[in-house]
Amino acid sequence: MVIITRKWAMANGRTFKIRPIREFVEEAVQEVDVCAGGVIIEPFANDSRYGTVTNDLNPKFSTDYHMDALEFLKERSEEEADLVLYDPPYSLNQAVQMYKSFGKEKLKPGVGNMVYWAKCKDEVARITKVGGVVLSFGWGTNGMGEMRGFVKEKILIVAHGGSRNDTLCVRERKMEHYQPRGKALKRSGKASESTSATAKEQ
Ligand SMILES: C[S@@+](CC[C@H](N)C(=O)[O-])C[C@H]1O[C@@H](n2cnc3c(N)ncnc32)[C@H](O)[C@@H]1O
Repeated sequence: MVIITRKWAMANGRTFKIRPIREFVEEAVQEVDVCAGGVIIEPFANDSRYGTVTNDLNPKFSTDYHMDALEFLKERSEEEADLVLYDPPYSLNQAVQMYKSFGKEKLKPGVGNMVYWAKCKDEVARITKVGGVVLSFGWGTNGMGEMRGFVKEKILIVAHGGSRNDTLCVRERKMEHYQPRGKALKRSGKASESTSATAKEQ
């Protein structure tokens, strides 16, 4: 069953400053026992500091790493994360603009391409423990998806009013070891995500 909730809040480029989103994130963060070695990974951290391992391309943020997200994720160990906060640029245009703003010579050709972002998700699936959680943010609700071994638990829709896009927040749990592309998981006999949702509007 997927629990769907809708709330309204002012938009903010720093996603986790938006109150209902902050609460959504903090609920998942509190479930990780960091003192006992729990690992929270933020590949696109910006100024957010929920992660025990943080990365942002932009050197102005005081993250542990300033790497391209795909390269950063590829260096992480298999099934090391209890929680991944996946909050990338929300469109291919935004992704390219962010790269360009650090100098055209740094432009990674891939970031304007869907394949790059699918590979990032493949890596997130690889580094998440079975039983671990991924929170994804953006303008869609695909998240990691069943093909990567994940099951959706919650979707939070945050409307911002006017002509602004809503921010969609997806919580998913990894149920099975990740199989690389081409060896996609077959999940038979389960209700589809779209048919098992309950909605709660606030
Ligand atoms: C939506 S913001 C994250 C906001 C953050 N969750 C918060 O609440 O403050 C996306 C971040 O990803 C970084 N970024 C964009 N493209 C990237 C890439 N290809 N690799 C690594 N970081 C990237 C940007 O510098 C930006 O800080």
